[in-house]
This record gives sequence, structure tokens and C-alpha cells, in this order.
Amino acid sequence: MFSTATGAYSDRFALHRDPSPARVATFAEDVRSSLGARPRSLSPKYFYDDLGSALFEAITRLPEYYLTRIERDLLATYGREIVAGFEGPLELVELGSGSAQKTRLLIDAILERQGRLTYHPIDISADAVTESALALAASYERLNVIAYASDYFPLLRDKRLTPNDRVLALFLGSNIGNFTPVVARQLLRLLSDALSPGDGLVLGYDLKKDPTILELAYDDPTGVTAAFNKNLLARMNRELNADFDLRAFRFAARWSEEHGAVESFLVSERTQRVRIPAAGLDIVFASDETIHTESSYKFTREEIAALARDSGLHEKTTYSDSGGRYALGIFTVV
Ligand code: AVI
Repeated sequence: MFSTATGAYSDRFALHRDPSPARVATFAEDVRSSLGARPRSLSPKYFYDDLGSALFEAITRLPEYYLTRIERDLLATYGREIVAGFEGPLELVELGSGSAQKTRLLIDAILERQGRLTYHPIDISADAVTESALALAASYERLNVIAYASDYFPLLRDKRLTPNDRVLALFLGSNIGNFTPVVARQLLRLLSDALSPGDGLVLGYDLKKDPTILELAYDDPTGVTAAFNKNLLARMNRELNADFDLRAFRFAARWSEEHGAVESFLVSERTQRVRIPAAGLDIVFASDETIHTESSYKFTREEIAALARDSGLHEKTTYSDSGGRYALGIFTVV
């Protein structure tokens, strides 16, 4: 199916897979080490199975989860101005491209200015990056897509991107906020080292604000985010033969001033025993014991500018909404 699909646009679409993917721990191994340890945790990367991805898509439509909506508005309003700030011709590189819906706003702006465009989306999921690349190739006759199904750390470290022109890199969706500050700094450094002086970066990040607004965004009254988190338990039941009773856990998200992040947890409603045979675990949860599922870091503009500066990036300008909730930082590689 994959080769049939690529055949449709074989002159304008190429997919590169990680040549030597490092052996990554399996779901069972990660569950064993993180849920078996104290404090208990699960990696947020396991949110995104089919159901989890659909629930995340639903989160982005919630009125309380303002991040996606504001980012889209900012790109629609300032896309042309962002592009005008860089001498062309440009190529686009996108880290964690996903469905690449918002990328269309920048593709439109660039194609208004130049005849052709090469887009390099990078996503860990070969299916996601292929699907979105083919949809873009179908929409834009003047677009070439060179896609990478890879973790972006090794790809940037091995300098596997080979653009010919000036690059505008995109790291959108507040994805930077799911890395600890140390790892976020390493990632920006790898990115700036993989690019050339004068290249650009559009970084979408969520601003620090009233904790009530943040906690509502991450614990919406409809319960979609709670379901997104509980799907981790359901996924262990489905894939690891676990016997979690989903009703015996509640979801909680709270702002941590100390860490500068909204921290999400599943909380055991009572003392209970859970078996996860495929991970070799037999756990007794105490009443109110927590499983940490995600940290979503928030920043001030100054914090991001400092992080970027340490990584060889200079802040050109920053756009944000009138409520000061979300920002798009525009940087150049020095
Ligand atoms: C993907 N990531 C940036 C989202 C965030 O805001 O941390 C994931 C998410 N978790 C709960 N709601 C959205």
C-alpha cells in the first residue's frame, strides 16, 4: 500500500527511513521500568496509539485548549510577514510534522513568492508522515516533499538533512513543552548546528499565565483530556494483558510553579492490585498514589529567548495573541 501511494507522486515525494534506528525500548520494557519505579510514571509518547491520536485531535478542538487555535490564527495573520523576513528561495523543514495542517499556511505564503518549494517533514511515525506528505503533494503541484520517518535527535545529530537553499525550520504545537528544559536546550542546539547561519526557526510555545487557565486547558470539563490519559491504562490492558480497572483511577492536572509546567497524573482511587503480565509487573497501588503521565512546560518570552541564545539562535521577533496566551518566536541561526 505504501509503495502504491508513493507511486502516485514518485517524482515529487521521497521517504527516508532511519538507516540504523537505535534499538528503542518496547512498550513492555518502558512500562516495567517506569511504572515499576517510584514515583511511578509512564512516558507521554505512549499516548499516541490510534485511539490516543484521535483523542488528541479532539483536545485540539476544545475551547479550553487554546494552544492550537491561537497558533493557527498567528500563522494565518503573520505567515506572509514571517516569510518576508527571510531572503529566498526558502526550503521548509518541520520537526514533528504530524498532520501538517498548519504548515499549509506557510506553504501558501512561500509559494506566493517563489515558483517551487521543497518541504522536509520529520516525524517518528512513517504512516503519519507519508499520509500528510501525500495529501500535501496532492494539494500543491509546485511542492516537492522529502520526508523523514525518524526520531529527530539522531537525524539532526547525523546531519542527514540536505537542503539546497535557505531553510525555515518549524517546531510548532508547543511540542518543545514536552521536553525537560535540559533536553529542550540540547534539541535546539542540535537543530541550530544542523542548519546554516541565516537560516530561520519558527517556534510555537505556550506562555506562562494564570494557573486557572492552564489547569482548565489540561483538565477540560468535557473529560477528553482525562480520557486521553486513561487510554494509557486501556492501552496496557489491550497490549500488555493488564487488568487495570479504569474507573478506579481519576485524572488530575495541576500547575507546578516550581517546575514551570502543568503536570498530569492518574491517581489511584483506593488501595488496589494490578497485574501487567507482559511487563512482568504485579503492583499494589496505595490509595491516592499517583502515576505521572506528562509535563507540559510553559515559558516567558525571556526564558525562550535565553534558551535559544544558549543554542546559537537569535530572536528576531515574537508574535503573540492579544491575551498573551501563546507565542510564535522567530529566530535566526547565528
Ligand atoms: C503534544 N503536546 C504539546 C500537548 C501539550 O500541550 O502538552 C499534549 C497534550 N496533553 C494534554 N493535552 C495536550
